[in-house]
Order: sequence, then structure tokens, then C-alpha cells
Amino acid sequence: MSAFQLHLGDALRVMPEIESGSIGAVVTDPPYSSGGTHAKDRAKAPMDKYISNENHHRYAARPFLLGDNRDQRSFTTWCTIWLLEAYRILRETGYILAFTDWRQLPAVSDAIQCAGFVWRGVIAWDKTEAARPPHTGYFRHQAEYVVWGTKWKCLRADGRGPFPGVIRERVDSANKKHPAQKPVGLMRQLVRCAPEGEAILDPFAGSGTTGEAAILEGRPFIGIEADPAWHQFANDRLLTAASA
Ligand SMILES: C[S@@+](CC[C@H](N)C(=O)[O-])C[C@H]1O[C@@H](n2cnc3c(N)ncnc32)[C@H](O)[C@@H]1O
Repeated sequence: MSAFQLHLGDALRVMPEIESGSIGAVVTDPPYSSGGTHAKDRAKAPMDKYISNENHHRYAARPFLLGDNRDQRSFTTWCTIWLLEAYRILRETGYILAFTDWRQLPAVSDAIQCAGFVWRGVIAWDKTEAARPPHTGYFRHQAEYVVWGTKWKCLRADGRGPFPGVIRERVDSANKKHPAQKPVGLMRQLVRCAPEGEAILDPFAGSGTTGEAAILEGRPFIGIEADPAWHQFANDRLLTAASA
């Protein structure tokens, strides 16, 4: 396999084409369908839910997040459907790592277990005190979370890990192009759960951060992105990473 393959399309349509038992880890950051307590809040444009007003100008010319408008029950069901495919595609020793925020954490941990995975924990991504400032009287929303599990047993024999349970890495605002873009340093730590040489799959690839991290860490990458503009952006980024 070449350093990366990046598919344009809906994850639910592309994942069934991937061979069973062929992937070392699914490391992904799906749309959160979060941003409010009530249906009315969640139905707002993602820009208004997730990006503070003073940063709107950074994203004005770009398309925004597809698939971020599910209500609570359909979000859990949709996650279970793609996680069932992830389960089939993973090797017996494979890992599932899925990002979420505090509000959707219970839905994602439920869906991971519904799909058959052994739920093993939650990694905290500490965005540092530079994270979006809170309202007066609030505890700072300083972390996002990675729900992780395995298809079956955890690989212990090869001596890798233990991997960090808290990763402190600030958002790289200067280089952030996608509104939900994660720092490469964060993703590099996560993709190391798969042994070197085993493929990493991200069915919601966005700007391609997981792919860049996988390439830098010596793991082949398969990505899927439904938005043509982000697919193009990620493809260019991964070509650069693979040729460096
Ligand atoms: C949270 S973002 C991922 C951001 C990424 N981690 C990064 O660092 O750039 C989720 C991505 O999933 C894409 N997406 C939404 N629904 C999808 C679907 N059904 N199939 C494939 N991609 C989808 C969105 O267009 C968006 O770019």
C-alpha cells in the first residue's frame, strides 16, 4: 500500500469497500452534533456553535462541517452504524479511538459498546488555558475527549506503551484552516497505538491531520472525506507530507 489513500465520499458508503481485518487502528474525529442542550441550539450553524465571533473571519471563505446536525438519538444510532463497519475492518488486535466533547461523551461510549468493542477508557486532550475563555462562573471547557477501546485483547507483548492518558497540546491557531482541525502533535501520539506499518483509518478526515500524523509515524493511512473542498485540501496536504 502507498503512504496514503484518500477517498471522496460518505463514510457509510466507502467503508464497506475496505477489506475485513486489514486496519491496525481507526483514529477519527467525527462531527460531534453537539453545541447545545436543546434541539434548537444544536440545529444552529456549526460556525455559531463552535467558533467564537472574533474568529469567524478565519473560515468565511470555506465550506463548513457536514453532518453536524443530528439529534441525540440519531447521532447515537449513526455512530453505531459506522462503528460496526470499523469493527469489521479492524484486525483482531485493532484499536478504536473516537473524539468527542463532554456533552456527547455518553453517546459515543454507548455506541462503541453497541458496535461490539471493549470500551477501555477515555483519553483527555487538554487544550491548555489557551482554550476558549469561559463565561463568568463557568469551569473552563479546556478538554475534549477520545473514547478508546479495542476489538478484542490489548496487544501487550510488543512492549509499546503505556500511552499517555492525558495529552496537553494547544490548538495551533496560526495554522488552523479547518474549523475542527486537531494539532498534529496530538494525533501523532494517538496513531502510535497501532504497531508501525499497520494501517490507520480516519473515516472523517477533514483537513487530513490524522493522515499527516500517520505518515510521520510510519503508518500507512486510509482517509474518507465527504466534502469535496476538504478532500482536495487534505489530499494536497498528504501529498506534501508523503514526499517530505
Ligand atoms: C470534525 S471534522 C474532522 C477534522 C479533522 N480531525 C482535522 O484535523 O482536520 C469532521 C469531518 O467529517 C466530514 N464528514 C461529515 N460527515 C461525513 C460522512 N458521512 N462521511 C465522510 N466525511 C464526513 C466533515 O466534512 C468534516 O470535514
